[in-house]
Amino acid sequence: MKETLLAKFAEIFGDTEGTKVYFAPGRVNLIGEHTDYNGGHVFPCALTIGTYAVARKREDNKLRFYSMNFEDLGVIESSLDDLKPSKEADWTNYPKGIIWAFGEKGMKVPSGMDLLLNGNIPNGSGLSSSASVEVLTGFILRDMFGFDVSNQDLALIGQFSENQFNGVNCGIMDQFAIAMGKEGHAIFLDTATLSYEYAPVKLENAKIVIACSNKKRGLGDSKYNERRSECEEALRELQKLVDVKSLGELSEEEFETLEGVINSPVRIKRARHAVYENRRTIKAVEALKNNHIDFFGNLMNNSHISLRDDYEVTGIELDTLVEEAWKVEGVIGSRMTGAGFGGCTVSIVKDKAIDTFIDQVGKAYEKKIGYKADFYVVEIGGGPTLL
Ligand code: GLA
Repeated sequence: MKETLLAKFAEIFGDTEGTKVYFAPGRVNLIGEHTDYNGGHVFPCALTIGTYAVARKREDNKLRFYSMNFEDLGVIESSLDDLKPSKEADWTNYPKGIIWAFGEKGMKVPSGMDLLLNGNIPNGSGLSSSASVEVLTGFILRDMFGFDVSNQDLALIGQFSENQFNGVNCGIMDQFAIAMGKEGHAIFLDTATLSYEYAPVKLENAKIVIACSNKKRGLGDSKYNERRSECEEALRELQKLVDVKSLGELSEEEFETLEGVINSPVRIKRARHAVYENRRTIKAVEALKNNHIDFFGNLMNNSHISLRDDYEVTGIELDTLVEEAWKVEGVIGSRMTGAGFGGCTVSIVKDKAIDTFIDQVGKAYEKKIGYKADFYVVEIGGGPTLL
């Protein structure tokens, strides 16, 4: 991999003198969906697939970016003197946004860079290819210029840039999972306080399988921001009766007694999902610790049902993948993962059922949807690194 990247860098930027090679993972969320902007818990993990980069400091202010995933776009050039998002900048709005965000946080980037990227996360799949690029860029800036920031800061800067530069009101989950990833572990994160705990994911005789619907999704044009405002509005209504800062502070029982104050059936459903999903996540981590994998799977299934019926972020593609998965013997749990509206599902599948799973779900999906899904048996990897 390293040789291929360096050879490409030399082809595009002349030579490889002064370069370094880096990697940042993608992530999959096991449970705790659409809870991270509601002060709830999430339970994601970093993957061994992700984004590779070759980077080199420049003496001038130029930013020259090239992605092996979008070769037809060629080198996209901008400058430290012009850090604004633009349509022409395309994917480079992500690294540019991070450079801008460092400046906003008092860490002005002193010189430009040449940067080549190559990701093996399917684009737009809901496995956080963009957050991976954001954290990777922050990691490179820290290494290149010696900025005094922790990995957790890199996550926060990534989220800040996604919110303020790229206009997506996302929570902290993706950037946190990527910046703080630990091999073999998922991260149980309380998004209200950012306190977290690593939980070993020991799946005896089973693996995590991701099914990619190949329905592309862009967070910006999805209903993501709309869901977020619906929850915020529901919270404001609840705050007339209780003193809470977020939906994540409520138990299921409290919510049931209070929900009448929310003045719209749709908002009640949205808030119900946020409250119940948070509680499911806490129970799921407990189940995993106690080796109750079947119960963990059950909670994953219920998470999907809630995202389908109450939060309404699934769609026929994700529903088909999950509902077909539930029919396969040896599937412990299956649900959509990430923002929804396309992207991927995550399933825990017994080793001996994986081939049948891929075959059966794949065929049923193609028959119903008209194009193929892709399947990945994944491993839990670590955070960003210098290679
Ligand atoms: C996207 C966002 C995250 C989170 C998930 C839904 O991945 O970037 O912050 O809200 O959707 O759980």
